[in-house]
Amino acid sequence: MSSNPTKNKIWLDLQSKAKEIKKTPIRDLFTQDDKRFDNMTIQLDDFFFDYSKHHITQDILDSLATLTRDQGLEKARQAMFDGAVINPTEDRSVLHTALRRPASDEVTVKGTNVIPLIHETLKRIKELSTQIKDKKYLGVTGKPIDTIISIGIGGSDLGPRMVYQALSNKPSDVITPCHFVSNIDGDDILTAMSQSDPETTLVIVISKTFTTQETLANAVIAQNWLKEKLPNHNDVMDRHFMAVSSNGNNVEKFGINKDNFFPMWEWVNGRFSLWSAVGLPLALSLGYKAFEELLSGAYEMDKHFLEAPLEKNIPVLMALVGIWNRNFMGSSQHAVLPYSQRLKHFPAYLQQLEMESNGKDIDLDGQQITDYKTGPTLFGVIGTNGQHSFYQLLHQGSDIIPCDFIASIKPDNNLNTSHETLLSHMLAQGQAMMQGRQDNKVEEPYRHFHGNRPSTTILVTELNASTLGKLIALYEHKTFVQGIIWNINSFDQHGVELGKELSTKLASNDLSNTDSSTKGLFSIVHNGLK
Ligand code: F6P
Repeated sequence: MSSNPTKNKIWLDLQSKAKEIKKTPIRDLFTQDDKRFDNMTIQLDDFFFDYSKHHITQDILDSLATLTRDQGLEKARQAMFDGAVINPTEDRSVLHTALRRPASDEVTVKGTNVIPLIHETLKRIKELSTQIKDKKYLGVTGKPIDTIISIGIGGSDLGPRMVYQALSNKPSDVITPCHFVSNIDGDDILTAMSQSDPETTLVIVISKTFTTQETLANAVIAQNWLKEKLPNHNDVMDRHFMAVSSNGNNVEKFGINKDNFFPMWEWVNGRFSLWSAVGLPLALSLGYKAFEELLSGAYEMDKHFLEAPLEKNIPVLMALVGIWNRNFMGSSQHAVLPYSQRLKHFPAYLQQLEMESNGKDIDLDGQQITDYKTGPTLFGVIGTNGQHSFYQLLHQGSDIIPCDFIASIKPDNNLNTSHETLLSHMLAQGQAMMQGRQDNKVEEPYRHFHGNRPSTTILVTELNASTLGKLIALYEHKTFVQGIIWNINSFDQHGVELGKELSTKLASNDLSNTDSSTKGLFSIVHNGLK
């Protein structure tokens, strides 16, 4: 099973291999092996994964795969899919994969097969989405619902928000427009309300715990807005308010009708939850079919992750090159650069997925990790926009930052020329980062490019619900594999708690044990500047 990976002899071997490989730039690895592209790419139907532009060899990948086996990946992977408790600090199973499995499967948690529960909920989501699509779900004044406001934060927001942006490209993609509200900053909910008609708006409050301060505050504001704008109707909450949560008691206390409550379960982690009823806004706004295709795309990636040998397994390979870059080549950052306007929110979604999962320095044995690094900082924006901003640093900065380029081969519009230009830019960036330019080092040193900057390229035939499902599941599994190698629990998030506690203390004007900087700032935010 998983343990400190540096105690494995392979770790030392890999350190020597890193020193050795640094003598040969990536571009030379291509000259030495004309089959490198063929050998270091994998196609999974309409999904293509190229890891050839990393500073890595097959021999290094084989050693990394052996290390991963020694860390117990295969056993841990099976344990996750089977519903074993793999999140020990919260005593929970981790079953986002169960959410995309067929109704005939069986996955048992504490003696209960959870697949029927999942499919019962999917059936309710489908029924509601059909009613909304057919204009049969009516508000209190008898008008059909035509707008959704989805209130949630973190995992109860980022996934649905990202998928909505990706799949609502054309007016014909959208059945019911959806506004996503997350921030406690009042401007967020005020904007959504100002663009919605209360008579035809359905508010969906999403919170696994149903205790999250920002979400509950926004839910109260939305509730008051509906009640105020729709006076003389006792059934406002019944017709216009729904909740998704694993805390049925708090949902009921809030005054939300039991029939309007969609469960998620404690074994679904927030940042892995968009496949559960957390995806309700997606099913209602984009239609149930799109939601179903998203789930089945993810299921295809799950099967590949479970069945493909580690050496040909896309999520595993993605994890391995990430480990190589982080732990042996010294990269502390990782850029995700989708060349797709529709994937605008993908980097933000991945920031929670990867950094809340693997931003940890306590290992599974409760020991402080001192002799190796865990999750890197992840950032990114869409190309080509980023090219005119921070790519200077990616090409010539003093840090080497591995990049993921992501694009769809076909556009979702008829501007083929724009799409070709977009893709040329993406390919050129990967090429420039890897090859660099060495011809003018002496005369114009500022025009010199070392190159040797690694990247992954992911292509899908077209960006649709199914390929998006695969893409998201790929990053989920990559995150899981890296957690196993680093010997950490990728499924808790205790690091977010201290800030919440201190904010509650400050909100009650309790300044005990507070440093002078925070005290000074507290005074300024309450009394203004002198
Ligand atoms: O504060 C972090 C966090 O707990 C995330 O892990 C979670 O996705 C988010 O807050 C929202 O939590 P909830 O769904 O319980 O409102």
